[in-house]
Amino acid sequence: MALLVILSRWLHVASACVAVGGVFFARVVLPVGLAALPIGQQSIALLPIRRVFKRVIHTAIVLLILSGAFNTYVAWDKYRLDPGLLQMLWGVHVLLALTAFSIALYVLARAHPTASARRLLGVNLVVLLAAVAAASSLKWGRDKTVGSHSPSHPAASSVAGP
Ligand code: HEM
Repeated sequence: MALLVILSRWLHVASACVAVGGVFFARVVLPVGLAALPIGQQSIALLPIRRVFKRVIHTAIVLLILSGAFNTYVAWDKYRLDPGLLQMLWGVHVLLALTAFSIALYVLARAHPTASARRLLGVNLVVLLAAVAAASSLKWGRDKTVGSHSPSHPAASSVAGP
């Protein structure tokens, strides 16, 4: 079980790195490279890149949902120790993730990019970074809450009595 927990966390974080890095590359780096090409060649270069990007993002979404669901299953008992904080942060994390997935699926739905694609990729980058911040806060909150419920913690022993 321990190996599965580590593998799922690794898969989740690795998929998040690919998604955030991919969107950052598509929004910040790629347009600079494309701008150096003559107008006619820009779409010739962009279309195959877009096709591969789409496959990468679709795969990352599936892996994030599967590993995220497993991570939730493993951690849920701990989130019950302080639902006001931990289940709230979990909800924020998942809501931001679902928003980012929806934007990405919308931007990549057509074969050719729409006029709003660049702006939406920028929004998506901000939403993804906010999802990482919510996940990091959730991890911090979970560690703090579990620590304060451990038998060696002064607060826990004063509750439990001598
Ligand atoms: C429906 C989709 C998702 C679900 C159900 C989900 C669920 C979770 C859960 C339960 C954790 C463990 C938090 C803890 O340690 O208590 C986690 C961690 C994490 N998630 Fe997600 N997640 C989803 C999507 C995403 C997305 C889209 C990203 C990328 C932006 C992301 C990035 C992360 C990161 C970086 C961590 C590790 C945080 C840390 O240890 O500091 N997740 N996620």
